[in-house]
Amino acid sequence: MAVIKALRMGHPILGQVAASVDPLPSRELELLVDDLWDTMRALDGAGLAAPQVGVSLRVVVFEVADNPRYPDAETVPPTVLVNPHIEPLGERMESGWEACLSIPGMCGRVPRFQHIRYRGFSAEGESIEREVSGFHARVVQHECDHLNGLLYPQRIPELRDFGFSEEIEAWGS
Ligand code: NI
Repeated sequence: MAVIKALRMGHPILGQVAASVDPLPSRELELLVDDLWDTMRALDGAGLAAPQVGVSLRVVVFEVADNPRYPDAETVPPTVLVNPHIEPLGERMESGWEACLSIPGMCGRVPRFQHIRYRGFSAEGESIEREVSGFHARVVQHECDHLNGLLYPQRIPELRDFGFSEEIEAWGS
Protein backbone atom coordinates (compact mmCIF):
# COMPACT_ATOMS: atom_id res chain seq x y z
CA MET A 1 0.00 0.00 0.00
CA ALA A 2 1.34 3.40 -0.92
CA VAL A 3 -0.46 6.51 0.16
CA ILE A 4 1.18 9.40 -1.68
CA LYS A 5 0.96 12.96 -0.46
CA ALA A 6 -1.33 14.65 -2.98
CA LEU A 7 0.25 17.60 -4.79
CA ARG A 8 -1.42 20.89 -3.92
CA MET A 9 -2.62 23.72 -6.13
CA GLY A 10 0.39 25.76 -7.22
CA HIS A 11 2.53 22.73 -8.04
CA PRO A 12 3.45 22.96 -11.74
CA ILE A 13 2.55 19.33 -12.54
CA LEU A 14 -1.11 20.15 -11.76
CA GLY A 15 -1.06 22.76 -14.52
CA GLN A 16 0.33 20.48 -17.23
CA VAL A 17 -1.50 18.61 -19.96
CA ALA A 18 -0.88 14.96 -19.09
CA ALA A 19 0.41 12.46 -21.67
CA SER A 20 -1.61 9.59 -23.12
CA VAL A 21 -0.84 6.09 -21.93
CA ASP A 22 -0.35 2.95 -23.95
CA PRO A 23 -3.69 1.31 -23.05
CA LEU A 24 -2.22 -2.13 -22.46
CA PRO A 25 -1.80 -3.80 -19.09
CA SER A 26 1.63 -3.09 -17.66
CA ARG A 27 3.33 -3.33 -14.29
CA GLU A 28 3.84 0.47 -14.23
CA LEU A 29 0.16 1.13 -14.85
CA GLU A 30 -0.84 -1.43 -12.24
CA LEU A 31 1.41 0.21 -9.62
CA LEU A 32 0.16 3.69 -10.50
CA VAL A 33 -3.47 2.58 -10.21
CA ASP A 34 -2.77 0.92 -6.83
CA ASP A 35 -1.23 4.16 -5.55
CA LEU A 36 -4.20 6.17 -6.83
CA TRP A 37 -6.72 3.92 -5.06
CA ASP A 38 -4.72 3.82 -1.82
CA THR A 39 -4.26 7.59 -1.75
CA MET A 40 -7.85 8.39 -2.74
CA ARG A 41 -9.32 6.06 -0.13
CA ALA A 42 -6.97 7.20 2.64
CA LEU A 43 -8.19 10.76 2.07
CA ASP A 44 -11.89 9.87 1.54
CA GLY A 45 -11.80 11.28 -1.97
CA ALA A 46 -14.40 10.54 -4.65
CA GLY A 47 -11.75 10.50 -7.34
CA LEU A 48 -8.08 11.09 -8.04
CA ALA A 49 -6.07 11.83 -11.16
CA ALA A 50 -2.50 10.67 -11.77
CA PRO A 51 -1.07 14.23 -11.88
CA GLN A 52 -2.20 14.65 -8.28
CA VAL A 53 0.33 12.00 -7.24
CA GLY A 54 2.98 13.59 -9.43
CA VAL A 55 2.53 11.40 -12.51
CA SER A 56 1.60 13.37 -15.63
CA LEU A 57 -0.31 10.60 -17.39
CA ARG A 58 -3.94 10.34 -18.53
CA VAL A 59 -5.21 8.03 -15.79
CA VAL A 60 -7.99 8.70 -13.29
CA VAL A 61 -9.83 6.63 -10.69
CA PHE A 62 -13.14 7.36 -9.02
CA GLU A 63 -15.65 5.70 -6.74
CA VAL A 64 -18.47 6.91 -4.52
CA ALA A 65 -19.88 4.52 -1.92
CA ASP A 66 -20.74 5.56 1.64
CA ASN A 67 -18.31 8.46 1.42
CA PRO A 68 -18.36 10.65 4.55
CA ARG A 69 -17.31 13.65 2.43
CA TYR A 70 -20.31 13.13 0.10
CA PRO A 71 -23.04 11.60 2.29
CA ASP A 72 -25.89 12.41 -0.10
CA ALA A 73 -24.21 11.45 -3.35
CA GLU A 74 -25.41 8.59 -5.50
CA THR A 75 -23.18 5.51 -5.75
CA VAL A 76 -20.54 5.48 -8.48
CA PRO A 77 -18.86 2.12 -9.19
CA PRO A 78 -15.07 1.92 -8.67
CA THR A 79 -13.63 2.80 -12.06
CA VAL A 80 -10.15 3.15 -13.53
CA LEU A 81 -10.19 5.22 -16.68
CA VAL A 82 -7.16 5.43 -18.97
CA ASN A 83 -7.04 8.00 -21.79
CA PRO A 84 -10.57 9.23 -21.04
CA HIS A 85 -12.68 11.17 -23.51
CA ILE A 86 -15.83 13.04 -22.53
CA GLU A 87 -18.67 14.00 -24.83
CA PRO A 88 -21.42 16.24 -23.40
CA LEU A 89 -24.93 14.99 -24.21
CA GLY A 90 -27.01 18.11 -24.52
CA GLU A 91 -26.20 21.60 -23.36
CA ARG A 92 -27.70 21.40 -19.90
CA MET A 93 -25.39 22.53 -17.11
CA GLU A 94 -25.88 22.03 -13.40
CA SER A 95 -24.13 23.88 -10.57
CA GLY A 96 -22.86 21.91 -7.62
CA TRP A 97 -20.27 22.06 -4.84
CA GLU A 98 -16.90 20.44 -5.44
CA ALA A 99 -13.78 19.87 -3.43
CA CYS A 100 -10.40 18.53 -4.44
CA LEU A 101 -7.66 16.69 -2.55
CA SER A 102 -5.19 19.16 -4.10
CA ILE A 103 -7.03 22.09 -2.48
CA PRO A 104 -7.56 20.84 1.07
CA GLY A 105 -10.25 22.44 3.18
CA MET A 106 -11.83 24.43 0.36
CA CYS A 107 -14.89 24.00 -1.82
CA GLY A 108 -16.56 25.86 -4.64
CA ARG A 109 -19.69 25.83 -6.77
CA VAL A 110 -18.95 24.72 -10.32
CA PRO A 111 -21.20 24.32 -13.37
CA ARG A 112 -20.81 20.97 -15.16
CA PHE A 113 -22.60 19.23 -17.99
CA GLN A 114 -25.53 17.37 -16.50
CA HIS A 115 -25.38 14.46 -18.91
CA ILE A 116 -22.28 13.03 -20.60
CA ARG A 117 -20.92 10.01 -22.39
CA TYR A 118 -17.40 8.98 -21.46
CA ARG A 119 -15.04 6.53 -23.01
CA GLY A 120 -11.66 5.18 -22.12
CA PHE A 121 -9.85 2.01 -21.13
CA SER A 122 -9.64 0.02 -17.94
CA ALA A 123 -6.24 -0.83 -16.45
CA GLU A 124 -6.63 -4.22 -18.18
CA GLY A 125 -6.98 -2.52 -21.56
CA GLU A 126 -10.71 -3.19 -21.97
CA SER A 127 -12.71 -0.38 -23.48
CA ILE A 128 -15.24 1.40 -21.28
CA GLU A 129 -18.16 3.47 -22.50
CA ARG A 130 -20.88 4.87 -20.23
CA GLU A 131 -23.65 7.42 -20.32
CA VAL A 132 -24.06 9.07 -16.95
CA SER A 133 -25.58 12.12 -15.32
CA GLY A 134 -25.62 14.05 -12.07
CA PHE A 135 -22.87 13.48 -9.52
CA HIS A 136 -21.27 10.65 -11.50
CA ALA A 137 -20.95 12.99 -14.51
CA ARG A 138 -19.58 15.73 -12.24
CA VAL A 139 -16.86 13.50 -10.75
CA VAL A 140 -15.70 12.37 -14.19
CA GLN A 141 -15.56 15.94 -15.51
CA HIS A 142 -13.62 17.09 -12.44
CA GLU A 143 -11.08 14.26 -12.69
CA CYS A 144 -10.60 14.61 -16.44
CA ASP A 145 -10.00 18.35 -16.02
CA HIS A 146 -6.91 17.41 -13.99
CA LEU A 147 -5.51 15.74 -17.12
CA ASN A 148 -5.74 19.04 -18.95
CA GLY A 149 -4.10 21.05 -16.19
CA LEU A 150 -7.37 22.50 -14.87
CA LEU A 151 -8.44 22.73 -11.24
CA TYR A 152 -12.04 23.43 -10.29
CA PRO A 153 -11.49 27.05 -9.09
CA GLN A 154 -10.73 27.89 -12.72
CA ARG A 155 -14.31 26.80 -13.51
CA ILE A 156 -16.07 28.84 -10.79
CA PRO A 157 -18.00 31.64 -12.53
CA GLU A 158 -18.50 33.65 -9.33
CA LEU A 159 -15.60 33.63 -6.87
CA ARG A 160 -18.04 34.41 -4.10
CA ASP A 161 -18.94 30.71 -4.43
CA PHE A 162 -15.48 29.61 -3.23
CA GLY A 163 -14.43 29.23 0.38
CA PHE A 164 -13.49 27.06 3.30
CA SER A 165 -15.71 23.97 3.50
CA GLU A 166 -16.17 24.34 7.28
CA GLU A 167 -17.47 27.88 6.90
CA ILE A 168 -19.74 27.06 3.98
CA GLU A 169 -21.15 24.04 5.81
CA ALA A 170 -21.67 26.12 8.98
CA TRP A 171 -23.19 29.18 7.35
CA GLY A 172 -24.77 27.87 4.19
CA SER A 173 -24.37 29.60 0.88
NI1 NI B 1 -9.49 17.19 -7.89
